[in-house]
Amino acid sequence: MSTVFETALKGKHLVIVGGSSGMGKATAKMAAALGAKVTIASRNPAKLQAAADEIGGGVKAAPVDTTQEADVKSWVGGLGPVDHLVITASSAAHGAFMDLPTDDLRDMVEAKFLGPYVAAREVLPVLSNGGSITLFSGVLSRRPSAGATGLGAVNAAVEALAKGLALELSGRARVNCISPGMVATEAYAAMPDAAREDMYAQVGGRLPVGRVGEAQDVAQAVIMAMTNEFLTGTVLDVDGGHLVRD
Ligand SMILES: NC(=O)c1ccc[n+]([C@@H]2O[C@H](COP(=O)([O-])OP(=O)(O)OC[C@H]3O[C@@H](n4cnc5c(N)ncnc54)[C@H](OP(=O)(O)O)[C@@H]3O)[C@@H](O)[C@H]2O)c1
Repeated sequence: MSTVFETALKGKHLVIVGGSSGMGKATAKMAAALGAKVTIASRNPAKLQAAADEIGGGVKAAPVDTTQEADVKSWVGGLGPVDHLVITASSAAHGAFMDLPTDDLRDMVEAKFLGPYVAAREVLPVLSNGGSITLFSGVLSRRPSAGATGLGAVNAAVEALAKGLALELSGRARVNCISPGMVATEAYAAMPDAAREDMYAQVGGRLPVGRVGEAQDVAQAVIMAMTNEFLTGTVLDVDGGHLVRD
């Protein structure tokens, strides 16, 4: 018997920008298993193709850097009609308010806000009526952390973008934003293993669910957001209870 998600996604074309890693890749895997036609995108073509090969199921790789507007325009030309767009692609800059170099902040705004803004705008003409856009923010917009003020502010901007766009696209497409808490992904790959595991234990131990997230936890929420036709303009917190903890 088909699940409600299989019925909603079978044969639909999903484009996942950031699909070579972490939550984007987990979403691509889940959607492909549910019968969707999936295209994944990110900057590094070799890493992207490796992810597509790993996922299998006919997943296509279409490299793009969302910070290069001209490239985004030509990338969209090769996609064909799109039913659901998911954008996890970002980069994060950490640093105290007085210390974070302006160029690092600017790069983060480019990657986490402007890139998704431009990608959503360029995909819109090929997005099906009744389709969806899912953006990504993060828990820091509403549970700030010292040393991540810039990132929290950019997350808040992405949430405002999702809400405003949901209104602007009324009757045309639904727009939602996923706000993850800490999720164990390749985003933390540069940390030494012991320090990373310690961080996961410390952060997870303070959450109501007692652990940090797995990419699949968030993928489930993305699938729900893109298929639930009564959901738009929502920021969906997938954070293990981070917003309600002490
Ligand atoms: N992991 C967490 O704890 C956490 C917490 C809160 C919020 N978030 C947010 O959740 C989202 C997903 O995070 P994640 O941990 O799954 O990330 P991730 O594993 O680091 O994956 C990021 C993906 O984006 C791609 N990418 C980065 N910059 C790009 C660009 N300019 N153009 C196109 N693709 C680009 C990367 O591939 P290339 O490098 O090859 O381009 C990669 O596929 C992000 O928006 C992140 O800020 C994450």
